[in-house]
Amino acid sequence: QSQQAALSVPRVIGHRGAAQAAPENTLEGFIEAKAQGASWVEFDAKLTADNAVILLHDDIVDRTTNGMGFAAQMSLSALQALDAGSWFGPAWANSRIPTLAETIACLERLELGCNVEIKPCPGRDRETAVGVLDELGRVWPTAKPLPLVSSFSYESLLEARRINEARPGAGFPLGLLLEDAPADWLGLAQELGAVSIHCWHEALTQDWARAIKQAGYLLLVYTVNDVNLARQLFAWGVDAVFTDVPGRLLAEIGR
Ligand code: G3P
Ligand code: MG
Repeated sequence: QSQQAALSVPRVIGHRGAAQAAPENTLEGFIEAKAQGASWVEFDAKLTADNAVILLHDDIVDRTTNGMGFAAQMSLSALQALDAGSWFGPAWANSRIPTLAETIACLERLELGCNVEIKPCPGRDRETAVGVLDELGRVWPTAKPLPLVSSFSYESLLEARRINEARPGAGFPLGLLLEDAPADWLGLAQELGAVSIHCWHEALTQDWARAIKQAGYLLLVYTVNDVNLARQLFAWGVDAVFTDVPGRLLAEIGR
């Protein structure tokens, strides 16, 4: 059954860090999110060719670095040699693609919680879940509340659930990420042992929000940069929103 009682999420979560003010999925982005007052951040995790876990949203590095090509075909050292900030602005030229371990150490220093989104490259759904959960098991500080682990990938979440079951009492809470509104959302969430459902704001209706809350799940919504939209969603019972502008939402809505 739902473990959501054990997990509390803040209302405002920095999306990919604070993606409107600093390059996404970088340590500089997490520092910016903290400076804006966020208490949690979301980021995207995937595997390198040599099976290191790094932060990157796309399958390819072209949009967010000065390199080209598929992350799944590049080594960790090749990926970390890239400039992951200049595309965003010249002031960010020193930003690098961080590993998950570097990220967790940074969040520990900043006293930030997080939602780790497993974002597998095509065909790597299971191994990416194994990599992310293994690494979290190694580096997550025991004194810190657990991170929420989510994915759009059913296969990744199923693998995460299997790993959780092998670690009684120490499993990571799982979130089901949805792009549309599947008729069997409740069955999916139950099969995966999810504690939360993460919906796209354009797909969510008030009735669906009510049903998700009545079923006992935390309800998180992405990506919400508009204050009025955020107000409406919270009025519907939404627990948290992912936003590129955590400072703006915190100033208007509070914690
Ligand atoms: O986890 C919420 C949100 O990040 C999902 O969409 O494409 O920004 O990873 P995306
Ligand atoms: Mg994401």
